[in-house]
Amino acid sequence: MTAKIIDGKAIAAQIREEAKNEVEALKDRGVTPCLAAVLVGDVAASKVYVKNKRQACEKVGITSVLRALAADVSEPELLKLIDELNNDPAVHGILVQLPLPKHIDETKVIEAIDPSKDVDGFHPFNVGRLVIGLDTFRSCTPAGVQQLLLRSGIEVAGKHVVIIGRSNIVGKPLANIVVQKQKGANATVTICHSRTKNLNEICRQADILISALGQPAFVKPDMVKPGAVVIDVGINRIDCPSSDKGYKLVGDVDFEPVSKVASAITPVPGGVGPMTVAMLMVNTVKAARMALDRAS
Ligand code: GUN
Repeated sequence: MTAKIIDGKAIAAQIREEAKNEVEALKDRGVTPCLAAVLVGDVAASKVYVKNKRQACEKVGITSVLRALAADVSEPELLKLIDELNNDPAVHGILVQLPLPKHIDETKVIEAIDPSKDVDGFHPFNVGRLVIGLDTFRSCTPAGVQQLLLRSGIEVAGKHVVIIGRSNIVGKPLANIVVQKQKGANATVTICHSRTKNLNEICRQADILISALGQPAFVKPDMVKPGAVVIDVGINRIDCPSSDKGYKLVGDVDFEPVSKVASAITPVPGGVGPMTVAMLMVNTVKAARMALDRAS
């Protein structure tokens, strides 16, 4: 068997196009959606992510502002900036790129963001709404995974979805998305993590195996049921002296051998990554629309 490659780039482009149309409609109503991106320090990967997010904004017609702070910025200073952005009516979405430097309490920062501008869907208010099945900002990577499955015609209802990784950004929200009694969901879900026993055995029971643990080539073919769908959320930088940048990006899945066992698989790069950015556009448009609806 050779797996079908799920083209995240193409699906993300389609979602961006839909977002662009919505931006046009909002502009007709007098509002241009605006995303404020907060970048603390100079972690190379975070800089790239923020740059990609701002480029996507430009493509879609969303205004983006960058607020870059030094790595040694104090927590009160960062909280002050968040407060300023919360109170700025021209800003519809606030994105604080994670991780933050060790001396800053990430939870405190996330909790400081106005939930109505929390386009990352990380605020406990929005996470709580997600868990109980209410409309909310869903965190971008898990929402992107669901869209990849939906738009690739992969049925989730009744399937056993096994997620490797229990992070607040991916594993936990993703489990809560696919378990809902909603379209594109209704799955039976298992979350595996570093303390899981019989990991391989559990993974082999997955109809849809989703890896989000951040370890290169962790998922091997003997962990995959023949014909399963494999979604690779991992984006790992590994040294590659022969490339221009000196590194290359690989996923959590040992792609070549696993693609001989799976029925469909996402590549890295070009799978889940572009979907995260596309869903951020969707959430920012939604934040702007909701602000406009509240005002009118
Ligand atoms: N760091 C890794 N993924 C994300 C994300 O989706 N949003 C933010 N803000 N930071 C991240």
